Amino acid sequence: MNLSGKTAVYGVIGDPVAHSLSPAMQNAAFEALGLNSVFLAFQVPAVKVEFALRGMRGLGICGLNVTMPDKNAVIPHLDEVDETARFLGSVNTILNDSGKLRGFSTDGAGAHRALIENGAELAKKKLVVLGGGGAAKAVAYTLAQEVAELTLLNRTPQKLADLAKAITQKFQTKVTVGSTSPNEIQRSLQDADVLVNATSVGMHPHTAQSLVKPEWLKPTLTVMDIVYNPEETKLAQDAKAAGARVVSGVEMLIYQGAASFEIWTGKPAPVEVMRNAAQNQLKHRASGGDGIGES
Ligand code: ATR
Repeated sequence: MNLSGKTAVYGVIGDPVAHSLSPAMQNAAFEALGLNSVFLAFQVPAVKVEFALRGMRGLGICGLNVTMPDKNAVIPHLDEVDETARFLGSVNTILNDSGKLRGFSTDGAGAHRALIENGAELAKKKLVVLGGGGAAKAVAYTLAQEVAELTLLNRTPQKLADLAKAITQKFQTKVTVGSTSPNEIQRSLQDADVLVNATSVGMHPHTAQSLVKPEWLKPTLTVMDIVYNPEETKLAQDAKAAGARVVSGVEMLIYQGAASFEIWTGKPAPVEVMRNAAQNQLKHRASGGDGIGES
């Protein structure tokens, strides 16, 4: 890397942020395209978000990823927020567009592209999403635009009422809301085509856990677990054993990063380079820390 007076600065803000895979992925992508740019991690607790974004303006930082707990907190300090991010109340990408700070959410787009690039079909299909946090909402909102039927199951189903109503009104998709009780999951999976686990169940250190019993899985199902720590969760292992198509959480992470890269640079992201960087980083990392919904 040749740093110079012309190097463009990008980064990720969040707290904690030291474990983020984004610096490895984005720096590899900049290097592959020969861009004089660098990507750093900045530890920014939510109370310091305002200062961080003033710094972005003052220093001319070109772009930021935003991870927990700053995804909501950045919104009042931006000049513009795209429709999806505004609806979700969550921004994971900021572009400094000639001094104007514009916010985007690439989590849903990342999940969408991860599924499509890995051979899943969504049009006219039935999708089941487990979870009701930020990641689950982003996935559900984006994929609802394409599938025919959507079932949202959360431990606390009340959290999904507003989302379900908005999706029904906006996209005319048939939406059912329920709990993550074994009965409801089993019933929903009977005629499902795609299952996305967007809960933290199965994440390190509780790697033996899964909300889905192996016997509910079948070869016609596509299963994406957005947990990437471990890279192959219990759910992913069970799905593979059942002959289902399995899409790893790392894929979603790579494609949300690729979408951010494309927003910042206007160039197609070198996805393979970003995948290698993310996987190398994961291999070298001691297990621990969180693994979902991260930028
Ligand atoms: P993120 O913003 O990354 O999606 P989050 O907001 O912490 O992360 O969401 C984690 C999700 O996992 C939530 O939907 C949570 O359920 P609740 O909304 O009821 O809290 C879900 N989750 C965590 N542990 C769970 C468990 N044991 N069974 C079912 N769902 C669980």
